[in-house]
Amino acid sequence: MRDNYSKMIDHCGFVDLPVPAGIDYVAEIDRLKREKNAVILGHYYLTPELQDLSDFLGDSLALAQQAEATTADVILFVGVHFMAETAKILNPGKMVLVPDMKAGCSLADSASAPDFKRFLDQHPDHVVISYINCSAEIKALSDVIVTSSNAKKIVESFPRDQKIIFAPDKNLGNYLNSVTGREMVLWDGACMVHEKYSLEKIIDLKREHPDAVLISHPECERPILLVSEFVGSTTALLNYVTASEEKKFIVATESGILHQMRAKCPDKVFMPAPSIDATCGCNDCSFMKLNTLKKLYLALLYEQPEIILREELMVKAKMPILRMLELSK
Ligand code: 13P
Ligand code: SF4
Repeated sequence: MRDNYSKMIDHCGFVDLPVPAGIDYVAEIDRLKREKNAVILGHYYLTPELQDLSDFLGDSLALAQQAEATTADVILFVGVHFMAETAKILNPGKMVLVPDMKAGCSLADSASAPDFKRFLDQHPDHVVISYINCSAEIKALSDVIVTSSNAKKIVESFPRDQKIIFAPDKNLGNYLNSVTGREMVLWDGACMVHEKYSLEKIIDLKREHPDAVLISHPECERPILLVSEFVGSTTALLNYVTASEEKKFIVATESGILHQMRAKCPDKVFMPAPSIDATCGCNDCSFMKLNTLKKLYLALLYEQPEIILREELMVKAKMPILRMLELSK
């Protein structure tokens, strides 16, 4: 059944076929999961209905750890492409499916392998630390991978005089330089969601709600981070609001995380940080939001689209990811 649809997937990036009227997607997905011994790994930035459907929900570090450890035969990775690629690299014996091949990432797209290779050649003697939001090709050119959960610890594991390249997120890189006192050379990439917050509008919102605590993901630009009371990965932000005695928060990261914050803390108020354009829906990662119930169902049914990577690339990309997992313990 899979091969019949391969051409259409090449063209569309996802399987799009008619489904029976009135189909109960949740029940069907559950049935297919059991039939195929599949597990659904989902990121915090998904829509609430997909978060609730995931067998395991987490930030990019936790999802990589889960992908490595799973005993399921099939991983349906509901997030963005680089996360699913990481799952395949860590557990190559599994079939890794994604609902939509076009669910990419602006950060990962900012670094092509040939350009990155040229950049590395201009900076000999540098260790290469890459944020997990990059392609398998960039990972293969790196010495160690980090996520926003473990980046500080891993940067600090290198001697102070070690020359370092950090890629591809210049905002996370700048933040790490400021908290570690390093002067890492930065690749010029950014996230299209996290660079859209408006400092002016955030300050206005703080004036309206002086009791609200501003918390941010380190992919935000420096002025936002400077006025934030807490900076951390999606999991760190979630843990922070859960443990905090404060009752009101302005959250500068993708809006999907608000679903978990509200579920864990029903007595607290969470406000999305305003973006520069009130009409752009910039707080939503349009790539994450390409994932839908119908696409999850069709991906499991037809076992397409599947992440396929060259063996040699997987071997090269795995080393820096394993180094990260080791250093994260
Ligand atoms: P986390 O590592 O916090 O999950 O972030 C991933 C991401 O893509 C942020 O935009
Ligand atoms: Fe990439 Fe930004 Fe989307 Fe995260 S929010 S997946 S960094 S585009």
